[in-house]
Amino acid sequence: MSEHRFLIWGGKGWVAGHLKELLQKQGKTVESTTVRMENREAVLKELERFKPTHVLNCAGVTGRPNVDWCEDNKEQTIRSNVIGTLNLADCCYLNKIHVTVFATGCIYHYDDAHPIGGKTFTEEDPANFSGSYYSATKSKVEEIMKQYSNALILRLRMPVSDDLHPRSFVTKISKYEKVVDIPNSNTLLTDMLPVSIILAENNETGVYNFTNPGAISHNEVLDLFAKYVRPGFTYSNFSVEEQSKILKAGRSNCELDTTKLTTKMKEYGVEIPEVHKAYEECFKRMSAGGTK
Ligand SMILES: NC(=O)c1ccc[n+]([C@@H]2O[C@H](COP(=O)([O-])OP(=O)(O)OC[C@H]3O[C@@H](n4cnc5c(N)ncnc54)[C@H](OP(=O)(O)O)[C@@H]3O)[C@@H](O)[C@H]2O)c1
Repeated sequence: MSEHRFLIWGGKGWVAGHLKELLQKQGKTVESTTVRMENREAVLKELERFKPTHVLNCAGVTGRPNVDWCEDNKEQTIRSNVIGTLNLADCCYLNKIHVTVFATGCIYHYDDAHPIGGKTFTEEDPANFSGSYYSATKSKVEEIMKQYSNALILRLRMPVSDDLHPRSFVTKISKYEKVVDIPNSNTLLTDMLPVSIILAENNETGVYNFTNPGAISHNEVLDLFAKYVRPGFTYSNFSVEEQSKILKAGRSNCELDTTKLTTKMKEYGVEIPEVHKAYEECFKRMSAGGTK
């Protein structure tokens, strides 16, 4: 596999940084780029320059301070997350390059057929959440993107790192004045980024729910955070209805079915830890690393 050349798009981003560090640690040939995805000429030139075998697309707008930003910046959201993401996949297709897209699972919401603790959302289920412009565009793009035979689409949800980076789900909810308490699928980067590399290197394609198996509630996460990282930490809850009053756009809450992913990873001898177990290990690493 030494001939593999990885080019990471969205080079200055949070997930991109973790991915680059991991690939470097693995001794892989990797570079990252900040070329704008919607600029076709520049994308083609960048592909020609580095000649990647694999593009890892971690670029996209998620909004600052949060996805509410996309509600007021629809053209910019379209240019990056729709035109840009598809343009990059298309340029890779023309150049016979495998592209892994770090996409989102925030395209579902619990409903009568998929209640909390009940049936979970598979890769085949049509998106049923468009409460934010960010999610609405992401689900439409995925629908088109999955037709590209060179594309691997990984649906992350509420990613978590081993530090308290501002982008990490734990950091976010530990700073909120109040949190909702709903079980969700989460992506713990330390477990999942190595999985993305294995899938990419083996030229796997198609859509995967890309989270640790199971679902964990906000309160469970924060209780574990208090247990392992910050003793004495407290928080308070509010309802989804109360939360909606302080947000411009809706937020997705759902549990994704990880059967397709865990079955595939068994072929490679990799077991992905269940989300509660994964959080315990994450918080132990955090504590051992001196994070408080
Ligand atoms: N973090 C989450 O909660 C989460 C959850 C699920 C899925 N994801 C997905 O995972 C991916 C990475 O997320 P992240 O948290 O690492 O985001 P991030 O830290 O905001 O990084 C995204 C990077 O993409 C770049 N970018 C934006 N538009 C671009 C364009 N048109 N062309 C080239 N680069 C562009 C940004 O650069 P500029 O700042 O210069 O624009 C930024 O450096 C995103 O696509 C996101 O949708 C994230």
